[in-house]
Amino acid sequence: MARPSSSSSPFSIIFLILLLSINSISSSSGSPEDLAAAAAAALFIFGDSTIDPGNNNYIETTSDMKANHQPYGQNGFFDKPTGRFTDGRVIVDFIAEFAKLPIIPPFLQPSASFVNGANFGSGGAGVLPETNQGLVIDLQTQLKQFDEVRSNLIEGLGDKKARELISQAVYFISIGSNDYIAGYVLNPKISEAYRPEEFVSMVIGNLSQSIQALYDKGARKFCFLSLCPLGCLPILRAANPKADGGCFEDISALASAHNNALAAVLTSLAHILKGFKYANSDFYSWLDYRIQHPSKYGFKDGVSACCGSGPYGGVYSCGRTKEASGYQVCENPEDFVWWDSFHASERIHEQIAKTLWSDPPSSVGPYNLEKLFLGEEELRIADVVDVEDGWGDFGTTA
Ligand SMILES: *[C@@H]1O[C@H](CO)[C@@H](O)[C@H](O)[C@H]1NC(C)=O
Repeated sequence: MARPSSSSSPFSIIFLILLLSINSISSSSGSPEDLAAAAAAALFIFGDSTIDPGNNNYIETTSDMKANHQPYGQNGFFDKPTGRFTDGRVIVDFIAEFAKLPIIPPFLQPSASFVNGANFGSGGAGVLPETNQGLVIDLQTQLKQFDEVRSNLIEGLGDKKARELISQAVYFISIGSNDYIAGYVLNPKISEAYRPEEFVSMVIGNLSQSIQALYDKGARKFCFLSLCPLGCLPILRAANPKADGGCFEDISALASAHNNALAAVLTSLAHILKGFKYANSDFYSWLDYRIQHPSKYGFKDGVSACCGSGPYGGVYSCGRTKEASGYQVCENPEDFVWWDSFHASERIHEQIAKTLWSDPPSSVGPYNLEKLFLGEEELRIADVVDVEDGWGDFGTTA
């Protein structure tokens, strides 16, 4: 980028300082970090119970699909159970905090504002519309809801500003577990009709179409939470036919195959789609370390659920007093990897959010979230879509 002059006179320096201070006044906060954060000030979230902030509270579904009752949310970060499937916050709440954004509201929350993004996540949702059909908001429907938000932003902010917001926003996607558990393993009609690798390519094919659909609407910066060793969920450990106390390996193998296929798709999309940037990590190994060596990461138990009943707390009875057997809640959820028989504790959400935010490319890549949000390093104008204006300030990156 050409700069007006490299020999800066005291006058031009004063002028620059003046400009910067005007800039920071108009963006209402002070530091350079705030200015940078304001450059990517939106987060759009798609997926399942790993990130649902309470959308399922607003839909007709079964009580299994809702977490708006005690002891969910019991750590008191929110003043009441919100519908998050854990003891407190979920991963995207931490990411919003690191990005200096407010908590991103559920799309279905009446009269919420979406200028900083929206969360479309729905507990139980899958990539495929057949997964828990009729009980959840599937990914395709979540994309339609995003279209609605996008249209409203264009209407409210004007075409140019809305495009800028949409291309600078980060799109967080965490989905797939339910396709393999409810949609495949626990669904004999499907698991008899498709071989595992066929089913994985169907899920990945549909996920890849969804990513492209978002790209076509102007999305450029993506972050993926890949699948954990699903066979180690307390509910599946308890259902392991080997009954040797180990994880249900056939189910973990599906998660592994999904993750490998997703990584390959992302590599190729980054070649094909101009300006497509993403963060991805090996969440499978990441969680496996914590399950196997909990004390290294500050946990006491990597196997059993804090809240539930039966072996490993594997019965999904947490908060459901109607269950004949009742349920137990542990004293310190922060000692546990698993909050209930399906879902991780807040502490896990916090740790993975930190990893995705700031880990080096050997662990999260090609970008981490901090780089995606702050547009550090290689925000070259040529990379950045058909947005004509608003990028001048970034032209000086070395
Ligand atoms: C998407 O999923 C449907 C089933 O819902 C399947 O019939 C179709 O082949 C999948 N598409 C791709 C591209 O894999």
